[in-house]
Amino acid sequence: CGIVGYTGEASATPILVEGLTRMEYRGYDSAGVAVEQDGGIQVVTRKGKVAELAHTLGHFEMTGTCGIGHTRWATHGKPSEANAHPHTSCAGDIAVVHNGIIENFAELREDLIARGHVFKSETDTEVVAHLVEEAFHRMLADGSGDLRAAVAEATSQLVGAYGLAVMAEQEPGTIVVCRKDSPIVVGRGNGGSYVASDIIAMIDATRDVVVLADGQMARLRPDAIEYFDTDGNPIEPEVTHVDWDIDVAEKGGYPDFMLKEIHEQPRVIRDTLAGRLSAGSLVIDELDMTAEELNLVDRVYVIACGTSYHAGLIAKNLIESWARIPCEVEVASEFRYRNPIITPTTLVVAVSQSGETADTLAAIRDARVKGAKVFGITNVVGSPVARESDGVIYTKANKEIAVASTKSFLGQVVSLTLLAMLLGQSQGELTGGQVKLLFSELADTAEQVERILAECTDSVDEAAEAMVDAASALFIGRGMGAATSYEGALKMKEISYLHAEAYAAGEMKHGPIALIDEGFPVVAIATNSAVYDKVVSNLQESRARGACIIAVATEGDEDIKKHADHVIYVPKVRDAFSPITASVPLQLLSRAVAVKRGCDVDQPRNLAKSVTVE
Ligand code: G6P
Repeated sequence: CGIVGYTGEASATPILVEGLTRMEYRGYDSAGVAVEQDGGIQVVTRKGKVAELAHTLGHFEMTGTCGIGHTRWATHGKPSEANAHPHTSCAGDIAVVHNGIIENFAELREDLIARGHVFKSETDTEVVAHLVEEAFHRMLADGSGDLRAAVAEATSQLVGAYGLAVMAEQEPGTIVVCRKDSPIVVGRGNGGSYVASDIIAMIDATRDVVVLADGQMARLRPDAIEYFDTDGNPIEPEVTHVDWDIDVAEKGGYPDFMLKEIHEQPRVIRDTLAGRLSAGSLVIDELDMTAEELNLVDRVYVIACGTSYHAGLIAKNLIESWARIPCEVEVASEFRYRNPIITPTTLVVAVSQSGETADTLAAIRDARVKGAKVFGITNVVGSPVARESDGVIYTKANKEIAVASTKSFLGQVVSLTLLAMLLGQSQGELTGGQVKLLFSELADTAEQVERILAECTDSVDEAAEAMVDAASALFIGRGMGAATSYEGALKMKEISYLHAEAYAAGEMKHGPIALIDEGFPVVAIATNSAVYDKVVSNLQESRARGACIIAVATEGDEDIKKHADHVIYVPKVRDAFSPITASVPLQLLSRAVAVKRGCDVDQPRNLAKSVTVE
């Protein structure tokens, strides 16, 4: 979900709509704004995308200079106008937008109903509007407090996660914001004060922002912002300067963000590796662990969700083969509710593009309580994952806008590859010479990806054409190819809605092969490796049953043409680096199928870029 707010000299509505559009990738099933108008608060909400809301707003005369807005990814209550934020109190004098989940909302709601409150939506958020109303009306009556104090009192009753922006008719020009486990940034610019849950919503107005810490509050007024600690005392928070290129929010001539981001990958590889090798040794100082401490590590867990989890599957192969340390990869939502074996020599690596995925954060906290050292791998500087880990590696992908992750995934794979090399070196399994050679080959993948992007369009398009009408597809591979195929299948189902499943190729005959009939697409990662012949055997088994084989293979492999209907070639690299090269045509393939099926490539249905709820 996305929160935005503005109070200043200008009309708020266009600023809110612009901010919501920028944040839409975070959730897009409904949207709404609340703007001060003629002494009251006018709320307009719409089901669907921000463009729908913008269209509706065209019919209103909203000139107020203070307002809040929200774009939603439904958790409690279906996407609808009634469930869209902002939510208001009974009297309609208070409006609230919220990210996160109020876990005790059912009890709070029951109590509020018993006290005479009438609810208009099914959301957890609406309880906040009613709680603020109760506190604020009481404080107004006895002169004991203001909106900030009322929000503080209301939030003290909440269990769960929240980023909140609140306005009240009785305090015109004021927005009160606070957070717990859900991001809120504030900043001054262009004659006003801004709040958002993502810097991207206000990047045109300011690059100097305050990222609120848990428990902190801010009060935005047209000419200033005041900050408060948990006890309500004024504070001077640290200001963060954002130095991204403004063009992260533009498509730069590409038809969609996904294609633009796929094409940025050579740069991501180069930036992620820049400065990492000096005098023959890897430099990853941010990890803040000595060679001796690294040497003691005897178990690694990689925890993550979604695409980041797939980067972990690739890392497992590298960590076990280069460092000879047992490595488990687990989705964070499982890890956090198990009782994993953690000792002081366990290293937990948390991978998260956004750095704010709720399950991953909870898993980090749990692992640290149990005594593990936690490394974060994230794309967002200063994000909760970065702040709550013992050390962090940044993936240097820059802001990723398309909901389906591409360039961040490659940045994660490259960062995890560096970590595996570092562990290999500190465990005495890799020599300095080997590290140097691996590093230089890893660096070469930037140019190889460039070449794939320049050369594989036609073969990808031909393969996409062969799959476009399929109801289902299988992605198969072995070893590194198996790990790569999981991400290939996820990308396909995420953006094209073509059901795709990944299987270790050797497992095909134990079940999935029953699915295969005439023309059933099987996408096989058949790049050069020690298990190449085995993969080819599995292809033949599928083909004998009528499958249409799309193979990703190594340049120069003419033989594969005998076993596949369509071949997409990638440059020759060592098997350890094949996920980097082989993933790129799979990203392009899923996008091409999605475009042919008329799907919204950047904002697939039901998904959101950041999942800050459990
Ligand atoms: C969401 C996104 C995915 C992403 C996953 C994990 O589901 O749609 O693209 O892989 O969250 O996000 P993270 O930010 O933790 O990598």
